[in-house]
Amino acid sequence: MATGHEKVETNVGLLIVLAVLAISVGGLVEIVPLFFQKSTTEAVAGLKPYGALELEGRDVYVREGCYNCHSQMVRPFRAETERYGHYSVAGEFVYDRPFQWGSKRTGPDLARVGGRYSDDWHRAHLINPRDVVPESIMPGYPWLAKNKLDNALIQKKMRVLRTLGHPYSDEDIKNAPSELEGKTEMDALIAYMQVMGTSIKVRR
Ligand code: HEC
Repeated sequence: MATGHEKVETNVGLLIVLAVLAISVGGLVEIVPLFFQKSTTEAVAGLKPYGALELEGRDVYVREGCYNCHSQMVRPFRAETERYGHYSVAGEFVYDRPFQWGSKRTGPDLARVGGRYSDDWHRAHLINPRDVVPESIMPGYPWLAKNKLDNALIQKKMRVLRTLGHPYSDEDIKNAPSELEGKTEMDALIAYMQVMGTSIKVRR
């Protein structure tokens, strides 16, 4: 006669249902508490939402697919913190929608790249990476220096983000289009990179 366990193992339908149930319970036990922990839901002290120019730069970053080669998450291991600085914490990303953590690292992690290089270095590097890093295999993005920013949508973007909890004031939103005036996509991308990971003081 089939024992309880044998019944489950010989009935595919029942096995699927019970497996899904077991995984769901396991998943919920791991995930649900994260919604209630301060360390995963609250911004770290000093974290500011992206300004208008940085926000546009972030959109350029996503559009150009920089995440295909760069992660934005320093893991809590010695080898990583020695190289990049303090490991990433959840509270740094509450104003990142969507976050750019990733795990694909053809190039270095960028979570702490803010302030590491000058704006001029970034400009040269983005136009032709080999001009500053001879062995680089990163592609150049020279068109970013020519593309003027379009400021038509910035206020709308900021208003939407405000409804999601990003603390923009009316004044921030009012001034946004003029902040983008005359700026290129390259200016925006560099502004974005220069604030990346700077809310936590980093040991270098
Ligand atoms: C095909 C893969 C690839 C893509 C796509 C790519 N990169 Fe890179 N990136 C690299 C590699 C490899 C390096 C290391 C060599 C170098 O510094 O150029 C690098 C280095 C960098 C560095 C210097 C990081 C440091 O700590 O030294 C920055 C900043 C950077 N990339 C930004 C970007 C941005 C912004 C984009 C999108 C516009 C981008 N990358 C797209 C591969 C890539």
